[in-house]
Amino acid sequence: MALAVVAGPADARVAVDEAGRVFRLDGAQVTYAFGVDEKGYLQPLYWGGALDPAAPLQARATRELSGFDPAGMQTAQEYAGQGEGLVTDPGLKVAFADGSRDLVLKYRSYRLEGETLAIELADIARPLVVTLRYAIDEQTGIVTRTATVTNRGRQPVRIEAFAAANLTLPGASSYQLHFLSGRHAAEWTPHAVPLSPALTVLESRRGSVGHGNQPWLALTRPGQTTEEAGPVWFGALAWSGSFRLSAQTDNIGRVRVAAGYNSHDFVWSLKPGESLESPRFYAGYSHAGLGGASRTFHRFQMERLIPGGAAAALRPVLYNSWEATAFDVTAEGQMKLAERAAKLGVERFVVDDGWFGQRNDDKAGLGDWTVNPRKFPQGLKPLIDKVHALGMSFGLWFEPEMVNRDSALYRAHPDWVLNFPGRPRTEGRNQLVLNLARTDVRDYLLGVLDKLLRENDIQFIKWDYNRNWTEPGWPEAGPDQQRVYVDYVRNLYFILAELRRRHPGLEIETCSGGGGRIDTGIMALTDQAWTSDNTDPFDRLAIQDGFSLAYAPAIMMAWVTDVPNWANGRTTSLDFRFLSAMQGGLGIGADLNKWTAGDEDTARRWITAYKGIRATVQRGQLYRLVRPTEGAAQTATLYVAPDRAQAVLFAMQRGSQWRDQWEPLRLAGLDPAATYAVRVLGGGALPEGVPARASGAWWQNQGLTLRLRGDYVGLGLVFEAAK
Ligand code: DGJ
Repeated sequence: MALAVVAGPADARVAVDEAGRVFRLDGAQVTYAFGVDEKGYLQPLYWGGALDPAAPLQARATRELSGFDPAGMQTAQEYAGQGEGLVTDPGLKVAFADGSRDLVLKYRSYRLEGETLAIELADIARPLVVTLRYAIDEQTGIVTRTATVTNRGRQPVRIEAFAAANLTLPGASSYQLHFLSGRHAAEWTPHAVPLSPALTVLESRRGSVGHGNQPWLALTRPGQTTEEAGPVWFGALAWSGSFRLSAQTDNIGRVRVAAGYNSHDFVWSLKPGESLESPRFYAGYSHAGLGGASRTFHRFQMERLIPGGAAAALRPVLYNSWEATAFDVTAEGQMKLAERAAKLGVERFVVDDGWFGQRNDDKAGLGDWTVNPRKFPQGLKPLIDKVHALGMSFGLWFEPEMVNRDSALYRAHPDWVLNFPGRPRTEGRNQLVLNLARTDVRDYLLGVLDKLLRENDIQFIKWDYNRNWTEPGWPEAGPDQQRVYVDYVRNLYFILAELRRRHPGLEIETCSGGGGRIDTGIMALTDQAWTSDNTDPFDRLAIQDGFSLAYAPAIMMAWVTDVPNWANGRTTSLDFRFLSAMQGGLGIGADLNKWTAGDEDTARRWITAYKGIRATVQRGQLYRLVRPTEGAAQTATLYVAPDRAQAVLFAMQRGSQWRDQWEPLRLAGLDPAATYAVRVLGGGALPEGVPARASGAWWQNQGLTLRLRGDYVGLGLVFEAAK
């Protein structure tokens, strides 16, 4: 059957057959296809490695399996309505005004909106329409999907569950589900569990993403998929609020996934004529294992999602005094630290919590974004000028969405926080959450932040968020108050986008008590992410490994801090701390006043070394050569520059035992024919047995054997291709 290319650049395309029954997206060696069957259901047809143009794709109507499994259920619908006995998670679940909850979505039409394919589905009888949108990225084959539901009837429709996408994979003997979990200071733990008929739900009910689960998953085939080989299907929801990703195998072993707003405590009344749009869902495929999947998604994030895309600036080396001074920030103290930081080669100086209102501890001041006159008698200007004179950019911490009860803002507007009248207002870290869903609160915050940025020469803000929701009430919205889950996040995005528009060049870090609000939604509006409050360099290796499964090292910040580490009391060398922290965006969070001249020399050496490799670390391809599995004594990561001219290997050892040797580390991603000279990152002699130069083929096939001695030691090696 002939498929005509109807949209897209040369390497990415959308094709539709003459009859308008088969739809195909092709890009970067990936094909994603779906089609309409004789009964009008839209069915997924294929998702995986590229198919040939003549592939005989066709949707065929499915019969009931038994009296217990009707046809609508057995048909793997591309986007299913909750109706006709569906027992897997739907795309959309509604209740109509007359109480009916039967929704059967069938294909209506398609249209092209530029390079986006829009497919219209509608209920078989009622005027409720769902528009699915698809676009494929020519560099990575990642498909971006959204759904929009529109009420064309005369009565409101109650939306009870709404996903951006359903996904189906064909039945197979087994699938493995990969996801990430965690808690404060212990985020990004990877899990891999067999997918089964038991529904697995990855979700946040917290109003924000939270530290618990990530809106990301990957599916692999046990026995076929490894770190560097085999099929991986992965997806991420671009949403910074409560989300729900569910996965299970159905009654015939197919994988069924739904991803969208969390339906827990959520309803949305869709008035006549209104639409509700889902967040975006990114769906990718790689045949090169979890490593290949990560690299594909990293590339997509770096080129398509982060502000500025491929032209985005590299992350500067920053200093932040939070661990050193906590709330005890003063103009004088910060200036001293700034002088010391600048001498080390730091490029950005960030003042953290404690500069505003009556913020002397975490009990007061949140909400009052005016400079504390006792701490900064002449305002921020002298400090900012000093930081600039030292050659660094200036950054400031905010936590705009929060108030302490003990704040002028809360005293003036106690009704501005999320609350249920007459019920307790549960505090977390002594703070309450402002209801950003309210337009007046949104506009107030935007105004305050905009004014501060207009009046001060600030290049960077760290946007923090230190609790989740407990009483998610919005009394003024009456029966519609569960909209808060969507309107809040939309208004957060609005403020971030508006600040960026009004202050070109401003950079923003997303932070939520460490990595509690990182996802592909906020990624499009922020330049970097604070990965975790856990700054122990060994714990951090595991945190960074988990983070990198889903997100790019380009945005992953880490600091070198003091020992013993606050999180676990562990003492490590400064070298080890630097080698761990420089595997993404490097920062320093130590009390520099306590550093000896020797510490400063060490830091200068590492910062200089980092600047020589950071483009490779931040923009390169990451190979997780030896992953930090439970109890692992050694780990190794390799970053390869996009042009393969440089590669950087970080080999890190937790502890020595039995005079053991490392297994040969075989590098990857190099040009086999090129000759690479190797040197030690930060200086020093090459380890015994490592040749000074060899071909890419040698490094990849023969590899190198290291023997690190001691506990918590590391080694960085830089491979440069001969010109
Ligand atoms: C939590 C952040 O993750 C820390 O880095 C620091 O900014 C504190 N909040 C300040 O309250």
